[in-house]
Amino acid sequence: MRTFHINLKGTAKKSIIVCRKNVLSKQLKEDLPWLKAGGSLIFTDSNVFALYQRKIESLALPVFVMPAGEEFKTEQTLFSLLKAMAEHGLRRSSKLIALGGGVVGDVGGLAASLYMRGISCIQVPTTLLAQVDSSVGGKTAIDFNGVKNLIGAFHQPMYVYADPAFFKTLPEREIRCGLGEIVKHAALNAPLFDKLMQNRDRLFDLEFLAEIVPENIQIKAEIVQKDPLEYGLRRCLNLGHTTGHAIELTQKNLSHGECVLLGLLYESYLARRHLETDEAYLGELETLIRTVLACKIGDIDVEGAARLALLDKKNTKGDAVTLAVPVKKGEFAILELSYADYARELSEIRSTLC
Ligand code: NAD
Ligand code: GLY
Repeated sequence: MRTFHINLKGTAKKSIIVCRKNVLSKQLKEDLPWLKAGGSLIFTDSNVFALYQRKIESLALPVFVMPAGEEFKTEQTLFSLLKAMAEHGLRRSSKLIALGGGVVGDVGGLAASLYMRGISCIQVPTTLLAQVDSSVGGKTAIDFNGVKNLIGAFHQPMYVYADPAFFKTLPEREIRCGLGEIVKHAALNAPLFDKLMQNRDRLFDLEFLAEIVPENIQIKAEIVQKDPLEYGLRRCLNLGHTTGHAIELTQKNLSHGECVLLGLLYESYLARRHLETDEAYLGELETLIRTVLACKIGDIDVEGAARLALLDKKNTKGDAVTLAVPVKKGEFAILELSYADYARELSEIRSTLC
């Protein structure tokens, strides 16, 4: 078992992250007396519920199940959940337990932040992506008006319980998706980068993944506790994401993590054009990205993606696109491009990639 404490700069709040096995059958069972005392609701999705129904029901807590998938990360799901919270009589001392991937974590976290102006949320991430990234750091959101994560709030979870046993039921595509955020962390952290390069043949091995989850949580936790509300440093965690999110909206066949990797790759080429970069390192990063990706890199609708990138909430000026891009091992830079240059250069870069 490994435990991390995130003490949030400028606030008295903290988040506790516990990496351990048997979260459903042991950790939550141990917590049941205080979970029941305050009143708690489990929020999960249809896939996770179908896979873990017996264990979930053995907790004898009320459960609200959303349909699985990013297309349900909507205001309808959010308000249905809030209604269920009200109908189950949740109060200020109650806990919402978000048991699932990043979609459940983001919607559940947002509902917890809104209900009675904020109740505690316990994140039980069941995907690789959710364990290494979305459950940690308090970003919550729904997609709105065609833009990813447009409506959201910062709401730090009280606890995050990360259990690698959940990976046993994950399809390979979801492992690949989580690897997208792991490679992003590696682009910010030289020791993790070297470890992934040295273990390129083990990237899909569940034991290797269980070993590197705590390292990834630590990398993210250290950044979040210095800059919980993303005024500066935390922007590094958006590496690859401006282009990645935009690709995700145009290429419905690709997962979030695959889009992050594509974003990272395209943005590394933009960095090469505009900034002082380490060519050898960016070449190695490309090798790592290509080891994880299963899609064709040159088939991406970058024109559609460029139009959507302009709507990204990280952009500060009307006609400019702001990007956090990799430059050297463990280093990133902020690159601002006019929309016209960004759109043209993405198309040029695509024509050189296959
Ligand atoms: P997801 O929640 O849709 O889960 C992916 C799929 O795996 C779903 O079909 C789900 O039902 C299924 N699943 C979940 N756990 C499973 C298990 N143990 N076994 C089998 N199937 C399982 O997607 P995700 O990749 O976990 O998360 C992506 C979302 O996270 C996106 O909406 C993204 O915007 C968000 N995100 C948020 C942050 C943040 O900081 N808040 C960071 C990164 C990503
Ligand atoms: N996933 C980006 C962040 O948490 O800041």
